[in-house]
Amino acid sequence: MKIGFIDSGIGGLSVMKAFISYPILADYFYIADTAHLPYGLKTHDYIHDRVEKLTHYLINTHHIDCLVIACNTATAISAEKLRKQMPNFPIIGIEPAIKPAALASKSKEIAILATTSMINNPRLTRLIHEFASDVSVIKIAADRWVTLVEQGIFSGPKADAAIHETLQPLSDHSIDQLILGCTHFPFLETELRSILNSEIVLVNPAAAVAKHTLHSLDQHHIEANTSSTYHYLTTGDLKHFQHQISPLQMPEGAVCTLAV
Ligand code: DGL
Repeated sequence: MKIGFIDSGIGGLSVMKAFISYPILADYFYIADTAHLPYGLKTHDYIHDRVEKLTHYLINTHHIDCLVIACNTATAISAEKLRKQMPNFPIIGIEPAIKPAALASKSKEIAILATTSMINNPRLTRLIHEFASDVSVIKIAADRWVTLVEQGIFSGPKADAAIHETLQPLSDHSIDQLILGCTHFPFLETELRSILNSEIVLVNPAAAVAKHTLHSLDQHHIEANTSSTYHYLTTGDLKHFQHQISPLQMPEGAVCTLAV
């Protein structure tokens, strides 16, 4: 089976990693839409246009059996629209894990960190209304963290300062769950852990997305491979992309550019 992944940059690799360690054996096609980054500060129309173009490219050129929108911002904008266009094609998205975080919270205060687009998306308001009505949810836009991760800054003084500044609004609250509502943020997990009170749980739904995808593939009678191959594509600069991927401990694979 062939699985396509889409994100604005390298963030979605944190989702693909969860698939690999699940493990799900497949031919992986990952697109980093680096030339159009960051999605979190673009309009809905702009983002949907990109996701639609990249989806058609993956289907027509690489014949993927399933699409994973490995980006919270793009999922909230495009997943439903694409499903309507292609009702029989499995499209999986990643969404902020509001429900599990609200259920697990003892302090009844939780926080979500995401892009500006995601924070302002009515979809997030609906998720909170539906699953966290008895919990206080602090919403924080953390677009700077996307930039950090894209620059390969996962730790050190610069990351530390940006994280402290972004989390400042939490100082008056006693949250016990911090939802990573952007797929770039798990790459800052080690730094976040060193800064946050050890009682705060970092909530990342990537493993649940992998499990859900396997279930969906099964329902569509799409069989797993006996081994995996990996293809990393970028709409940006090839050398820069190779340089970005190298510290992320991804499996070896073909790396190339695409003009879509
Ligand atoms: N990784 C994306 C997400 O999960 C967005 C990052 C960006 O702003 O481009 O929302």
